[in-house]
Amino acid sequence: MITVESLSKSYGSFVAVDDVSFTARPGRVTGFLGPNGAGKSTTMRVMVGLTAPGTGEVRLLGRRFADLPDPGREVGVLLDASAQHAGRTGREILTIAALTMGLPRARVDEMLERVSLTPDEASRRVRNYSLGMRQRLGIGTALLGNPEVLILDEPANGLDPAGIRWMRDLLRDFADQGGTVLLSSHLLHEIEVVADDLVVIGNGRIVAQGTKEELLAGAGTLVRAADGAALATALGAAGITARPTSGGAVLAEADLTRVGQTAFAAGIAVTELRAADGAGLEEMFLALTAESQRETVNHTSTTEGAAA
Ligand SMILES: Nc1ncnc2c1ncn2[C@@H]1O[C@H](COP(=O)(O)OP(=O)(O)OP(=O)(O)O)[C@@H](O)[C@H]1O
Ligand SMILES: [Mg+2]
Repeated sequence: MITVESLSKSYGSFVAVDDVSFTARPGRVTGFLGPNGAGKSTTMRVMVGLTAPGTGEVRLLGRRFADLPDPGREVGVLLDASAQHAGRTGREILTIAALTMGLPRARVDEMLERVSLTPDEASRRVRNYSLGMRQRLGIGTALLGNPEVLILDEPANGLDPAGIRWMRDLLRDFADQGGTVLLSSHLLHEIEVVADDLVVIGNGRIVAQGTKEELLAGAGTLVRAADGAALATALGAAGITARPTSGGAVLAEADLTRVGQTAFAAGIAVTELRAADGAGLEEMFLALTAESQRETVNHTSTTEGAAA
């Protein structure tokens, strides 16, 4: 269990994290989603005591990180896969960590196998590792002490599709065994497949949180008509908030029946009408973080360009 309560952190007059509160529960994978610079890493650094909070606090398994009796065995952390000592081999890094935590050396081989680093790769110096290998080693280090909580900052960064699949299964497994997983990403698709719960952050503030299902349900109805303008007008007249999606449809904040009836009453032929699914979540992510997206306009036009 991770509890973040009214956490704020400023650098000078710049507020990087602004009154952030959320809970990551055991048995669940919680995705911490936000665009670049949203405050994800800062929040995670505060969690593990690497950055002092301004106000508020974080509790891991009911205690502050500094008060955990045996942090290495309670909380597994991967914040920056490139922060490992470049001159050491992967095996050396795991061995030192194991000795520090008082774990048997056999645990090192177990972990190397778990993260699919071959003996040959494990004997190479980390400076010669690919980014994906560093991530695997970092995840191995985080899992080494068999912790109850995992805090991973962009762990999929640098992994190939098979690697992403592997990590997804590993995190699912970890949560299914009762563990708490918090993982961050700036990519919705990376997170929506594996996460049970989502916490969305933009400009240092939480803009949405809930179970993936709740957020999906909140995403409303996707509707398309040959006459898109008439559809938008009809929805607006009925008091339904609606906005165009990048794919040329309209995302309406109402259920299927109401949207269908509104279009019917206005005599508009609908060519598509369905509950907004993953695509809706993407629209939501873009909309919710629009203020904090540096290039909202560019992003939208790129998506449209690709679709056209
Ligand atoms: N030590 C620092 N001094 C000044 N500003 C900082 C410091 N650390 C972070 N920031 C600022 O705080 C904001 C949040 O940064 P953070 O690294 O938490 O974002 P992020 O959500 O992890 O983004 P990304 O997806 O790019 O990793 C950024 O604007 C960043 O420049
Ligand atoms: Mg970051």
